[in-house]
Amino acid sequence: MTQSLTIARPDDWHLHLRDGAMLAAVLPETARHFARAIIMPNLVPPVVTGADAAAYRARILTALPDGMHFEPLMTLYLTEHTDPADIRAAAASGLVRALKLYPAGATTNSASGVRDFDKIRPVLDTMAEIGLPLCIHGEVTDPDIDIFDREAIFIDRVLDPIRSATPGLRVVMEHITTANGVDYVKANDTDLGATITTHHLIINRNHILVGGIKPHYYCLPVAKREEHRLALRAAATSGDTRFFLGTDSAPHPDHLKENACGCAGCFTATNTMALLAHVFEEENALNRLEAFASRNGPAFYRLPVNAQTLTLTKSDTPTAFPAGIRAGDDTVTVFDPGFPVYWDVS
Ligand code: DOR
Ligand code: ZN
Repeated sequence: MTQSLTIARPDDWHLHLRDGAMLAAVLPETARHFARAIIMPNLVPPVVTGADAAAYRARILTALPDGMHFEPLMTLYLTEHTDPADIRAAAASGLVRALKLYPAGATTNSASGVRDFDKIRPVLDTMAEIGLPLCIHGEVTDPDIDIFDREAIFIDRVLDPIRSATPGLRVVMEHITTANGVDYVKANDTDLGATITTHHLIINRNHILVGGIKPHYYCLPVAKREEHRLALRAAATSGDTRFFLGTDSAPHPDHLKENACGCAGCFTATNTMALLAHVFEEENALNRLEAFASRNGPAFYRLPVNAQTLTLTKSDTPTAFPAGIRAGDDTVTVFDPGFPVYWDVS
């Protein structure tokens, strides 16, 4: 028996494309299914000015294979030196759709991030004035804070004070991993949204650590206890417009994941839509997959829903996803959910 589901073409509201050979390898994996994506700026060096974003956007479009359509929605990496006039111009031209705030040291290539939040006050005031969203990696970086508590503590110590001090600032809590994050979004107004990744709907911290360390399940924020995964599932499948898909698909070469100091990131671009169909079916919420993947994000970013569609089909035999993709001389392992998935994009 086959079952199928057609939804408005989805967008990915948090994506790492990298650059060079890696960009060329991973871009088709996203463009095959997604119309648009919010492109993370944590390159080395980071994308900090409007000119950087224009150049990176051009490299992305050059890497797009003939016949594929994809719109990169550019972001700038917020630093303590970001110039409010530059972001005002970059936003007004339509080039830049959001700024990304990394607390310094929180994750991959975040060394240029923010240490002193008072220094970014003029930028935040400008963003509130022009309605430009701030995408936040919400983890404190204090060495004395347990890594599993870093998101919950960030909400109290950093996020809530920033929002209180900047009325009208539109914020996306990126890749929330806790019930605390879900609750904070629900308790606040429509100026606050959150992205949820595919992998955080599937794994909890046991997947990383039980039976040996599984480096391909290590990402940041790190997956938490099962009760948090269930809270994320409930939020994603609820239809609540404040929750939308941001895969945080983050490719790293296998030799840097399977390493004594392995990089954080799960590469899910290839099979995200099939995995989401599986998850939403398990939650009896297939009718709300379109809201999560295709409607709630555009509503927050004040963009139209895509006119094109995507059809997912469920068959009797498990889908054979590639184990990895080639990127130059490297391999990037595709996220393995650890159970058979019968859905695929048709
Ligand atoms: O797991 C992650 N990988 N989390 C991040 O915040 C960054 C990302 C990356 O760039 O690899
Ligand atoms: Zn990310």
